[in-house]
Amino acid sequence: MAIIVAPSILAANFASLGEEVRQAEAAGADWLHLDIMDGHFVDNISFGPAVVATIRKLTQLPLDVHLMIEHPDHYAPRFLEAGANFITVHVEPEAKHDVARTLQAIRAAGCSAGLALNPATPFAAVEPYLAQIDLLLMMTVHPGFGGQAFRPEMMEKVRAARAWNQTNAGALEIEVDGGITTETAKLCLENGANVLVAGTSIFKAPDYAGAIAALRG
Ligand code: DX5
Ligand code: ZN
Repeated sequence: MAIIVAPSILAANFASLGEEVRQAEAAGADWLHLDIMDGHFVDNISFGPAVVATIRKLTQLPLDVHLMIEHPDHYAPRFLEAGANFITVHVEPEAKHDVARTLQAIRAAGCSAGLALNPATPFAAVEPYLAQIDLLLMMTVHPGFGGQAFRPEMMEKVRAARAWNQTNAGALEIEVDGGITTETAKLCLENGANVLVAGTSIFKAPDYAGAIAALRG
């Protein structure tokens, strides 16, 4: 499977966001990863649908919207309207929604549906939904903030996702998110991930193209 690099704009310079998006695209980004945080599901607040809609006008890249929010069923239509190509919701009960129904609604709207799990959440929690999704996002840090250290013990879940894909025609994009650097990307790819989300290691690097190329290995 082709390696997809999805820079997370959470680590970009918000004072020149348009320029950051253009530079990431020119540097070879495959998707853009947009982290939505509500101060409830996670202890941080980022940005909302208006910013997603603004970015939509600046780039043709697929927009990979990661909802770290409560009641994603209520807010997903606004991100669809804003131009998301992937909408990923969390499986944990703290997200306070009917996971199967939310996923179904995202797909019914013509959008790809993703499901995310936190480091403390076992793979078994997402298993009932795997046939209903296009992307499985394994958090490799505790969600909420960029710049944290990667948790290698999450590779067991990446391997479980790969095993599922092997018997299901490779239906899932297997995404890792948090602490992805040249070294940890290699480990993730070896264990079966194909989508690498990276904030700090791209946007804090002097050369975005070099950073993206290095992630591909
Ligand atoms: C964390 C977010 C990540 C974050 C990754 O809650 O989901 O997408 O931006 O940032 P880095 O690459 O800095 O760990
Ligand atoms: Zn994310």
